[in-house]
Amino acid sequence: MADLSATYPAVSDLRRKARRRIPHFAYEFMDAGTGQDHTFARNIADLERVQLSPRALRGPVARDLSTVFLGQRYDAPFGMAPAGGTGMIWPGGECILAEVAATSGVPYTLASVATQTPEVIGPIADGRGWFQFYPMADKEIQKAVLRRAQEAGFENLVVTVDVPKMSRRERQMRAGFQMPPRLTPRMVLQALANPGWTRAMLQTGRPELATLTPYFAHVPAADRMAEIGRQLHPEPGWDEVERIRKVWRGKIILKGIMHRDDAVMALDKGADAIWVSNHGGRQLDAAPSAISVLPGIRAAVGNDAAIIFDSGVRSGLDIARAIASGADFVMLGRPFLYALAAGGKDTVQLCVRILSDELENVMAQVGAQYPADLPLALVRT
Ligand SMILES: Cc1cc2nc3c(=O)[nH]c(=O)nc-3n(C[C@H](O)[C@H](O)[C@H](O)COP(=O)(O)O)c2cc1C
Repeated sequence: MADLSATYPAVSDLRRKARRRIPHFAYEFMDAGTGQDHTFARNIADLERVQLSPRALRGPVARDLSTVFLGQRYDAPFGMAPAGGTGMIWPGGECILAEVAATSGVPYTLASVATQTPEVIGPIADGRGWFQFYPMADKEIQKAVLRRAQEAGFENLVVTVDVPKMSRRERQMRAGFQMPPRLTPRMVLQALANPGWTRAMLQTGRPELATLTPYFAHVPAADRMAEIGRQLHPEPGWDEVERIRKVWRGKIILKGIMHRDDAVMALDKGADAIWVSNHGGRQLDAAPSAISVLPGIRAAVGNDAAIIFDSGVRSGLDIARAIASGADFVMLGRPFLYALAAGGKDTVQLCVRILSDELENVMAQVGAQYPADLPLALVRT
């Protein structure tokens, strides 16, 4: 591990390595925002502007990163956000991420459009898994999928509410990657330039949406992905939360809240937590940065409401900035995917270490003993 942290001291180093190790279309699928990446860039730039005040002579402090969130104790106040199609970024990627999350004591969120099922990931996540779900047009399939996730041991259900329709991702389109994915000669050439990825892909088999595909076995293979896509984004209303509440016995988190009125409504409708996120800049290229709306949402819902934050977090310092700005828990999408693509299990473990070390170090600089002390360090500009 010592060598690895010299090679990759920060998430940006993992990102650079990822770019070289996987085919261009897979990298662009993972990294792209929507449109011209304005929201993607704003997320990062606005986080960098959040300042924390150093404190002096606080004496020795027994710092403790562990955090209780929604009744569960985690070793750190951060975890892995859901990523559909992770198996295309690196074959078997969901299993690697879930295993490292479980051994590191942080949550892993399995996407309903991942390439692994809740039955496979539930036991690996060892009671710490969260299951992410897009409301579906067919309510019988919806109930069946939720039942499977519950039976596989997932306690927290993450309902993503910020994808009324798939967005246009121009970088992804330019790289030749289409939705639904179709293998083109151009993609084959890109794959051949990355023999390690191609070998792993040939061993694992072509990735598919493993959880949902069985419900669409009757649809011809060529049309299946398109049909699943049509099922996934029925532009639901608030009644959907009540419908899901009737089926799901565990906690419900609404992911993709960016407006204070939506945050208040989410809690009124029975959500246990809200997840402030603009989907990592992947949906609306005119959206404000997620960090810029976080303090207003915290003020609107009050101190007792549980808030998760993501979008643009690239370091332990950013985790501290988000907690200082009103988050109880912070999730990261691309950083763990970069780590996965850069070198598999070892670099995903390294990513957890980098984030924990950075966070612990920042807490030392600002005199915080617990993550919950961080709001005291926020410089209000
Ligand atoms: C490749 C990729 C796939 C994603 N798939 C999903 C998904 O299936 N469901 C979902 O709710 N969010 C999905 N997201 C969004 C992430 O959960 C998260 O909100 C976002 O990545 C956070 O921003 P960050 O990447 O800057 O950390 C995806 C993100 C990426 C990069």
